[in-house]
Amino acid sequence: MSIFYDENQKSFYLGAGKASYVLHVDEDGRLLNQHWGARVPDGALSPDFSHYPTLASFDPRTNALPWELPTRGSGWYGEPAVAATNAKGNDMVQLTYVSHAIYMGKNRLPGLPATFARREGDAETLEIELMDRLTGLRVTAVYGVFERTGAITRSLRLKNESGEDMQINGVLSASAPVHGSGYDVIHLKGAWARERHVMRQTQGEGEYRIFSQRGASGHESNPFLALCEKSATEFSGEVWAVSLVYSGSFEALSYVNNTENSRLSIGLNPDVFTWKLEPGETFVSPEAAMVYSPDGLNGMSHAFHRLYSENLMRSKWFERDRPILINNWEATYFNFNEEKILQIARRAKELGVEMLVLDDGWFGKRNTDNCSLGDWVVNPEKLPGGLNGLSDRLHDLGLKFGLWFEPEMISPDSDLYRAHPDWCLHVDGRARVEMRNQLILDLSRKGVQDYIIESVSAVLESARIEYMKWDMNRNMTEPFSGAQTPERQKETQHRYMLGLYRVLEEITARFPEILFESCSGGGGRFDPGMLYYMPQTWTSDDSDAAERMFIQYGTSFVYPPCAMGAHVSAVPNHQTGRTTAMQTRGDVALGGNFGFELDLSQLSDADAETVRRLIEREKQVRTLVRTGEFTRLLSPFDHPYAAWQFRARDNSEALICAYRLMTRPATPHLLLRASGLDESAVYMDDDGNTCSGAALTRYGLWLHLPGDFTSKVIHLRRIG
Ligand code: DGJ
Repeated sequence: MSIFYDENQKSFYLGAGKASYVLHVDEDGRLLNQHWGARVPDGALSPDFSHYPTLASFDPRTNALPWELPTRGSGWYGEPAVAATNAKGNDMVQLTYVSHAIYMGKNRLPGLPATFARREGDAETLEIELMDRLTGLRVTAVYGVFERTGAITRSLRLKNESGEDMQINGVLSASAPVHGSGYDVIHLKGAWARERHVMRQTQGEGEYRIFSQRGASGHESNPFLALCEKSATEFSGEVWAVSLVYSGSFEALSYVNNTENSRLSIGLNPDVFTWKLEPGETFVSPEAAMVYSPDGLNGMSHAFHRLYSENLMRSKWFERDRPILINNWEATYFNFNEEKILQIARRAKELGVEMLVLDDGWFGKRNTDNCSLGDWVVNPEKLPGGLNGLSDRLHDLGLKFGLWFEPEMISPDSDLYRAHPDWCLHVDGRARVEMRNQLILDLSRKGVQDYIIESVSAVLESARIEYMKWDMNRNMTEPFSGAQTPERQKETQHRYMLGLYRVLEEITARFPEILFESCSGGGGRFDPGMLYYMPQTWTSDDSDAAERMFIQYGTSFVYPPCAMGAHVSAVPNHQTGRTTAMQTRGDVALGGNFGFELDLSQLSDADAETVRRLIEREKQVRTLVRTGEFTRLLSPFDHPYAAWQFRARDNSEALICAYRLMTRPATPHLLLRASGLDESAVYMDDDGNTCSGAALTRYGLWLHLPGDFTSKVIHLRRIG
């Protein structure tokens, strides 16, 4: 049992892997968080909170207490986890314990992506119900405890029992105290083509906030925040982290108060969110995942990887090797016809590729990015035989067929816009702000949702399509809906997300065999919310091998490699202008779902030979990459090298991947230690060299990576 209730003490012990999360109901009925950290035995802590001091009349004890659900109105001066105003204008919330329930398994969240128990025993749930008896706001905190995975989730249900309207002003899905201060705070920052770079800095007193108000999780900050001991490394030290299962605007906060205690929070961004709750209605918040690791940053990532692959990805493709694909985007951009695609496809097939993905430009009259989004009808000038004709010819060649869409968007130059100019997000009387010549469909409207479901389904039914890339290429600037009343306008962003999730639910349920990949100008919506529906995301539009070392390294803080699209593209690279060897590009792309993004029909003989070998190797290692434990070995943010490994969970094989950034003269070769291999076993690489697990993990492997942007991948198999 991973949830224990100590009736005498009125304490709840939630145990997940190496972590404990201990809650206590005090004599006044307040729900306090006694401990989030190293695993303690059930019932081990005496619920003593007397050491949380009153500093002066200016700082009451309530401002020092480790609240589990801090609110304005309870004597807490930090950000509230639940903020609501009742019909009398009272926004002081005071919550006290009413009851609780513990049960095996975990319920889905209505209309929202959420973690689930894939197998019996994966999760246990605790629900604690609290009430503001004056205002009639009932709050239920729902905890999912994943003992084997090592993660704890929380979402909040808010019910209006006041008999009058209420307004929710903010909900933090997680908001948990961390004892003490002096930690480092880590987040994943970025921009288009430079996503999820690791940013680590000292957390001083005060608040550190990252957020998105873009209507998407965004390239700029990922919905994740961690605190760690200053001395923590990839392999040691304490780490606390929160991540939000949501794809829209969010905020994450690291706060150190004036009693030198820390708090980590994540939830909806209150700058762009309110919600009117009519009498009897319930609002369900997105879910947050909380991970504590005593084993450094890799320990944190291992827990997130397990949770987000085993207990979040619903697709059947969760347990299938992904096809090696060629995507025509960087090969042709909009300039293609059927013959050109087939030319690439024939060469791809010869080299061992398994699927061709036709990217942007196959529909309407879209020969540049200034038209036709919304008109999901094939362009017969480019594809005279239609999608069906192309798909048949690809299947005749022995390739599967994938297709790109951008369903949430509308071009002003489109039949859809001419028919429904009010279907986009816009403010009446103001110019509609275009980005990439496009506007955003108002997915808070049911009619718009239905249009997307039916138009996309019609295309998917019109041909044999085995993969779909779901792109989204701009963020919201005017989240205002023609379908909402004035007091509900600030609900638009969240209603959009609920609409999007309904559309994704419906389409993925109708086409359960299709492999869906999400994308947003590369990795602008790489978040757990999308992974619930689509088991992989296009990691970045930047597939330059050197840049990808950073991007994939940072992405792996939270997301498993089986969630990352990673392709080999042409040189000079289209984003950076850098030239790297085909081998290096392939060695980096091996760290995710492998594919190509270049004109394979134009390869030199030497490159074609390398590509053939890369594909052969990919077929041998992809199950290991998908199912193995991924561990970061060397950070490119700190070293002129990047290195990581994949280890089979039964220790039967491992893949060690090392990459060099810029070389320097007179520097030693690299001595790289593997991690977690069976020390008593003997391993052999593809060249027949053998080494003991003990030597590999305690001493290391000498690697020589001469020149800039070179790489080495070593496949080790246990032979004894
Ligand atoms: C952005 C994506 O990230 C690219 O891979 C490509 O699909 C383009 N959109 C197409 O417009």
